[in-house]
Formats: sequence, C-alpha cells, structure tokens
Amino acid sequence: MSIIIDTDPGIDDAIAILYALNHPEQDITALTTVAGNIGLSVTTRNAGRICALAQVDTPVHAGAAAPLGKEANPELGIHGTDGLGGVVFPEPLFPPASEDGVGAMAAILMAHPPQSVDLFCLGPLTNLALLLEQAPEAANRIRRVIAMGGAVDEPGNVGPKAEFNIAHDPHAAAAVFAAGLPFALIPLDATRKVRADQTYIKALRDTGAPAAIASAELINAYFAATNGAESRPLHDPCVPLLAQHPELFRLEDRKLSVDLETGALVAGEHTIKVAMGVNADGARAALLHGLSC
Ligand code: RIB
Ligand code: CA
Repeated sequence: MSIIIDTDPGIDDAIAILYALNHPEQDITALTTVAGNIGLSVTTRNAGRICALAQVDTPVHAGAAAPLGKEANPELGIHGTDGLGGVVFPEPLFPPASEDGVGAMAAILMAHPPQSVDLFCLGPLTNLALLLEQAPEAANRIRRVIAMGGAVDEPGNVGPKAEFNIAHDPHAAAAVFAAGLPFALIPLDATRKVRADQTYIKALRDTGAPAAIASAELINAYFAATNGAESRPLHDPCVPLLAQHPELFRLEDRKLSVDLETGALVAGEHTIKVAMGVNADGARAALLHGLSC
C-alpha cells in the first residue's frame, strides 16, 4: 500500500510519522506539508528533519502556506517556535522537492493504479481541498483518507466545540466532507483517550530504539506546554494506528458538516465514518511496539 502523509509537524505529527516510517511494509511515498501548528517553512523543515532521524529519503513537498481564504494562524504554544518542542533532531538530508505538495499528490495518484494510494491527514485539510479543486480526477483515485480532526461529543481544543485541524481551515474541511471520498475521521472523542504519561515515556526510552527515544523526548516536550498535566493525548499517531490496527477503533457513520464560522462539526448531510471509540491500552502498546521494532 502506498501512502502520502499530509502533515503540519508538530510534536504529535512527528511521532505519527516516525511510527509510519518504521513499517517497511507501508510504502510512505511522500510527505506533503501544510501550515498549521506552525508556519509552512517550519513544518516543511521538520518533515525533512523527521526523515533524517528515521534515515529515510522520503521526498518532502511543501503545500499550502495558509488556509483557504484566510491568513495562517499557527498554534505556537504547544509545539514551540521550532514546531518540535525544542527536541534535538538532525537537519534535513536534502531540500524539499521542487514540486509543491498538491502537485505531488496529483502526480503520485496519477502514476499509481486507481485506489492504490492512501492519504493520512495529520493537519488542516487545505492541501486535500486544493487537490479536489485542481485535480479532481487524481483525488478520485485515492483509496481512502484517514484524517485526525474534529470533536463530536467531546469539547473542542480551540473553542467550545472546535478542534484545531478543522477550525484552522473550515472551508477546506467542508469541501473534503462534501467530496464523498472514502474517508475516516478520528476526532478528539477517540484521540483524547490515547494518552501518554511519564511511565509511558520511560517505556519508550527503555526500548533504546531511536524512533521511540525521539518520541519520548517529543512527549516530554508536550508536557512542557501544559502545567501539571498527568498525561498528554496522542492525537496524530491514531491515524497510522487505525491503518495498521483497525480492530482497535470503533467506527460509526455520522452525518456531519462544518460550521464555517466556528470550525465546529455540526449535524449535516455528509455521512462520514468517525472513530468514536478506541482500545486505548491496545493503541499505546501498538505505538510502543511500532516505534521500537
Ligand atoms: O487537535 C489536534 C491536532 O491539531 C493535531 O493534528 C495536532 O498536531 C494539531 O495539528
Ligand atoms: Ca498535526
């Protein structure tokens, strides 16, 4: 299975990407970056740094620098000014590819057989919305999209009902929901249950594996952004975990739309598969194993 990871790394993005890159049976064909947690130049550099730490030559393509029709509004607090919580990562082994993120998505999809490429979305859905607009014939070749975003019954994290990825670009999310692609959404309702505490950090470190040790440092940095929290949610790692271990998640069909003002998910006309439950212990164990195997 070929996979494109669309991402705004980002502490939890980095852990998700390190986990995905550690599975040779999953061909991570490219990383496409988007402005979100931090600006596009930083998310793009970080994608290269993550690949350098994983010692892979996966191409990185810079995507959208701002949400559709808005100025970028990076979330500096949680991820730090370098986007990786100040954790030491190598510099990229090579510059970003010359083709932009959306162009790369279209080229990869047209070069592979139809329905043979998955798209993992770990940030705002700007790049996918632009692909739908600019190259619908390519977008329709996507086998499935798995995206982290939204809050259904859970409170939001950037507003009473708004979650960061959806609220950062609500117009993009609305366009993606309306497109009718094979799509699974993993909202805060599931991701907030998959949490890392100091015991988990120690277990990661004790494996001695580079990806697990880096992830331990990233989670430690995640704690720095909040005072006194016992544990931190692992949002984006749930995306590759769902792909690798679907049995750990409970998917439900929900009819959803996006409130374009607040970015909140609201009852709507588009049926979306939504992960409303997760075996959190199983997800944590699978992540630990996948980062250290
Ligand atoms: O709300 C969590 C999401 O927003 C995650 O993707 C995190 O990286 C941030 O982008
Ligand atoms: Ca993210």
